[in-house]
Amino acid sequence: MDNATGTRRGFLRAAGMAGIAGWAGLRAGGQAPVPAVRAARPRQKIILDVDTGTDDAVALMFGALHPDLELVGATTVNGNVGIEFTTENTLRVFDHIGVKVPVYRGMGSPIVRSDFPTPRSGGSAFHGQHLDLPAARSRASDTDAVDFLIQTYSRPEAREIILVPVGPLSNVAMALKRAPRILENLTEIVLMGGAHDMGNVTASAEFNVWADPEAAQVVFRSGVAKLTMVPLDATHKAQVSREDSARLRALGTPAGTAAATFIDRRIQGYMEYDRQARAAAPVHDALAVASIVNPAVISTVEANVDVETEGPLTVGRTVLDRRTRSNAKPNARVALGADEPLFVRMLLETLGRTAPAAGA
Ligand code: BDR
Ligand code: CA
Repeated sequence: MDNATGTRRGFLRAAGMAGIAGWAGLRAGGQAPVPAVRAARPRQKIILDVDTGTDDAVALMFGALHPDLELVGATTVNGNVGIEFTTENTLRVFDHIGVKVPVYRGMGSPIVRSDFPTPRSGGSAFHGQHLDLPAARSRASDTDAVDFLIQTYSRPEAREIILVPVGPLSNVAMALKRAPRILENLTEIVLMGGAHDMGNVTASAEFNVWADPEAAQVVFRSGVAKLTMVPLDATHKAQVSREDSARLRALGTPAGTAAATFIDRRIQGYMEYDRQARAAAPVHDALAVASIVNPAVISTVEANVDVETEGPLTVGRTVLDRRTRSNAKPNARVALGADEPLFVRMLLETLGRTAPAAGA
């Protein structure tokens, strides 16, 4: 990914300068100088837009704990569960792992429809309502999520912040509709959503896109400079097994233990509802975040992607023009493959970390 390459390039430049300074000191006959300022690898800033849920929870922990990422905020949206639950669950996750990341409550319904395209089928086996964590001690910001996105991306410094939506795209689309000028600074989106070969909520559609198809259409038609889509096609190729989950639990960290609990629940859900033979589950949203740190965890093709908002059988479908049947230019890099062992290794390494002590 260009952005990650840019980050690495910056790091190498800084490291090179420190190296030259040290070499000059030795030539002058002194001891190897301790650099006054260590060349630290700049962290990639991200904002996660979440409908927390079990896999969002793993993505949040990954984003908050990975040393190459700086999670500057989380915005919540209606999705896996209602907005009051997705907001409370997001706060619970951050409290549990001991990080202070601002949380902004967002849209409680799709941008056009008064509810989901078809009625919701009740509670979810994969997510429950409240995550299995103690009630949150911290509170959401008084600023609304859409206002936060508009304020943030109105500033040129925000060009460094990748927006990572892993729920229905209601907040992002509403921000774009209210303030289209933010596209000057909102230059990169990496989203989990969509499906090419398989749906999960219907035969055609993936949940995040299906849950607010008009919003997804706004995002895919927005012209954002870089758009990466991580659909079910990739996430189902990077599953976390029962054995992997046991290894996460054995890490003994708050993040490892919580992730194992959530993933076990997901595995149970997939075995019951998908009649999946293998005891393993995709952790969709975490794969999207992992791909920002290491693009090799997914493999992508470029294509034009648009969203069906009308078809009775196909509403919420992401339509990939893989053979350029239309004249539309590619507007997205679409992940169709994933490296499962690498993804699992990244989860183990990242969720084995604990939050730095306050003030450290
Ligand atoms: C997506 O929908 C939600 O259920 C998950 O959190 C994930 O973002 C998968 O279709
Ligand atoms: Ca999600």
